[in-house]
Amino acid sequence: MGKKVAEERALPGEKSAELLSLRNEYVPKAVFQIAPVFIAKGKGALVIDVDGNEYLDFGAGIASLNTGHCHEKVVSAIKEQADRYLHTAFNVLMYEPYVKLAQKLAEITPGDFPKQVLFTNSGAEGIENAVKVARRYTGKHGIIAFEHAFHGRTWLTMGLTSQVKYYKFGFGPFDPSIQRFPYAYSYRAPFVTTDAEYGKYCVKRIEDSFKTYLAAEETAAIIVEPFLGEGGYVIPPAEFIKGLRSLCDEYGLLLIADEIQTGVGRTGKMWAIEHFDVVPDILVAAKSLGGGLVLSATIASKKIMGSVDVGGLGGTFGGNPLACVAALKVLEVFEEEKLLDRAVKLGKVAKDRLEGMKAKYNIIGDVRGIGCALGIELVKDRKTKEPASQETKEILKKCHEHGLIIMSCGVLHNVLRLMFPLVIKEEELTKGLDILENAIREVNKTI
Ligand SMILES: Cc1ncc(COP(=O)(O)O)c(C=O)c1O
Repeated sequence: MGKKVAEERALPGEKSAELLSLRNEYVPKAVFQIAPVFIAKGKGALVIDVDGNEYLDFGAGIASLNTGHCHEKVVSAIKEQADRYLHTAFNVLMYEPYVKLAQKLAEITPGDFPKQVLFTNSGAEGIENAVKVARRYTGKHGIIAFEHAFHGRTWLTMGLTSQVKYYKFGFGPFDPSIQRFPYAYSYRAPFVTTDAEYGKYCVKRIEDSFKTYLAAEETAAIIVEPFLGEGGYVIPPAEFIKGLRSLCDEYGLLLIADEIQTGVGRTGKMWAIEHFDVVPDILVAAKSLGGGLVLSATIASKKIMGSVDVGGLGGTFGGNPLACVAALKVLEVFEEEKLLDRAVKLGKVAKDRLEGMKAKYNIIGDVRGIGCALGIELVKDRKTKEPASQETKEILKKCHEHGLIIMSCGVLHNVLRLMFPLVIKEEELTKGLDILENAIREVNKTI
């Protein structure tokens, strides 16, 4: 008999252990795991493993399940579509869900101008295409990316990604036209300053670089996450994102917003960049867009997309019919269940609770977030900000052993991130936060 959420369980359970030995034999160790757990079933924010143990899922497929596990409307849409046709390749036979979803995304992304949408499979593929389009449109090659950024694991996106170990280590060299600059991560600014001033400083560094690294006339785009996802759930000051927009306007660069982790309602707005009142030239969405199915979207003005010649974009499975109907249903569910309002409400409950924890436990150096995108940076000492990386691992393990699936992030591996589905029940959220607080309290005693 499995354990209920909050009851302690030994991991892995018997059946998970059997599957784990297969995994270790046949799957490369390079594919990391956060917990030795195999799922049997998921619903909303709740998961049951193959040994019958229950968990609350604050990992949610790495922010890919904003509408929860197996939302019944999403599942029925997929089932209905599966009975009609599974795949044609949009190049061979076109289908309605592709164009309807393109229309919907063009309508709900920032910018009051005609847009076009390309569908691909993974987030990384969406970013690759954003860069292709930016280069073709501007006729320039340079790309500016940021420290602590994560954009994927393909060759180009590894180059754009900043975390060396183990995303890039041993795989270089990468595209030489990528230039990297500091992200406005104020908590770890290298000198004493305000958030706003640090945001402006980071933008100025780029402007100065047009004289010392690569001319603006040779630079196609700046690619930025509206908040850092894998890089530590860092919310930048508005001056940073607004400053990047102004810089792009002044020097003729495109602004690419990577909304793969930040988008589809996580922050209480459909797109995180809306919090800064900024309209990007190209927006890339993935993860929660497909409600659990494989889908990414690269969205830009008709003018920008129109610069690419016929045959220059596409792929066999991009915008698969099952994924498109799932995404259409996800967006419908957002409206019907008012999930943006829910993200604001739940996010406040969770953030207040985390602030309360910060007042009690020294190990918490910083609590940050907007809506339901929440990060807790753990340090051994609040003055030196020495990262509590080992302690972060211990907290995760204790959470998993008490039925809370939760992940860390950050280049220093010391940030806990909360990515619970927006459909989570309030009592489930409270239960999950209780488990988290117990784990933090225990480990706090050791520093
Ligand atoms: C901000 C961001 N960009 C790109 C990616 C890459 O997406 P995928 O893993 O689907 O290729 C991720 C994945 O975590 C991400 O968080």
